[in-house]
Amino acid sequence: MPSPDQSSKGTGFLTTTLAAPVSPAEAALRPLSFADFSGQPKTVERLQVMVGAAKRRGEALNHILLSGPPGLGKTTLAFILGHELGRNVRVTSGPVIEKAGDLAGLLTNLEEGDILFIDEIHRIPKTVEEYLYSAMEDFRLDIMIDQGPNARSVRLSIPKFTLIGATTRAGLLTAPLRSRFTLNTRLDYYDRATLEGIVTRSCGLLKVDLDAGGAREIASRARGTPRIANNLVNFCRDYASEKAKGRITQPVAAAALELLEIDAAGLDEMDKRVLRLMAENYAGGPVGLGTIAIAVGEEADTLEEVHEPFLIQEGYLARTAQGRILTPKGYAAIGLKPAGAQQSLL
Ligand SMILES: Nc1ncnc2c1ncn2[C@@H]1O[C@H](COP(=O)(O)OP(=O)(O)O)[C@@H](O)[C@H]1O
Ligand SMILES: [Mg+2]
Repeated sequence: MPSPDQSSKGTGFLTTTLAAPVSPAEAALRPLSFADFSGQPKTVERLQVMVGAAKRRGEALNHILLSGPPGLGKTTLAFILGHELGRNVRVTSGPVIEKAGDLAGLLTNLEEGDILFIDEIHRIPKTVEEYLYSAMEDFRLDIMIDQGPNARSVRLSIPKFTLIGATTRAGLLTAPLRSRFTLNTRLDYYDRATLEGIVTRSCGLLKVDLDAGGAREIASRARGTPRIANNLVNFCRDYASEKAKGRITQPVAAAALELLEIDAAGLDEMDKRVLRLMAENYAGGPVGLGTIAIAVGEEADTLEEVHEPFLIQEGYLARTAQGRILTPKGYAAIGLKPAGAQQSLL
């Protein structure tokens, strides 16, 4: 796919716009350095150690895999790494790299020390993945050209680059690929205090008048996710400018988020549909993910990547060998009382 290319060479590198849709509003709020990036202390410390060492040795950064649910900062961190190292970051995504030739095109156009960011790396075709092994390890590619009797293998050497992979599904990566990353680090949902800081920073950048109660209200309904927090900030900003003279206070934020049907715990409509389905149709479970997906009309993958991790981490759902079950907290979230039977499984 051609891109409205921001990359200097126009070699088919995708801009972030195509790899993952990023609105101008989102781009404006994206932290550019570790100093602006709050939360994820373990991941940040690991990355800082690696950046420091790479700089000291004057070498390319080792390969890094960032995993975790959407909106927690994987892409942001890839750009921060580029920024801290003073290197280019080339962005592409797993499904876009269809053949070995696509990969060769990307890799041979890198400069020494550049970062290649592959989003959704678990979706790279298996046939291409094998080429990535030698590229990551030995910085060479053995590509077959031509077919039939003319087929021959050509060895390309590629500049020492850094691969940063991002995935919502680290479990789907093959062991050989995973093991070629020096660091495999997982981002977690953010706690409310950290999100309050992010909301406050975003309002500062957008020059929005926000008080502490407003920040707290938005943070507590953001599902542990900075991207959602920023989206809520944008909506609350509009709401405040229409209905509250531009100032986001606690009651203003609460009213705005009520309008979006985001409840006090941050559960969205799909989260609640899942909980309600389990309570009403399956007596709280156990029920399989595939069944839930069909019943609520959502892709099983989306449920597993986006909805379930939060519901499990917050204790609304539990995973058992027999399937998913609804916890008492899950019942409470939809205003029902536990059915009783499945509680013995907890
Ligand atoms: N730690 C953080 N501090 C401040 N803002 C953040 C942080 N992590 C993410 N964001 C914001 O959330 C948005 C989504 O982050 P992104 O890196 O695109 O998530 P992912 O790639 O994991 O889906 C970014 O535009 C950024 O503004
Ligand atoms: Mg991303």
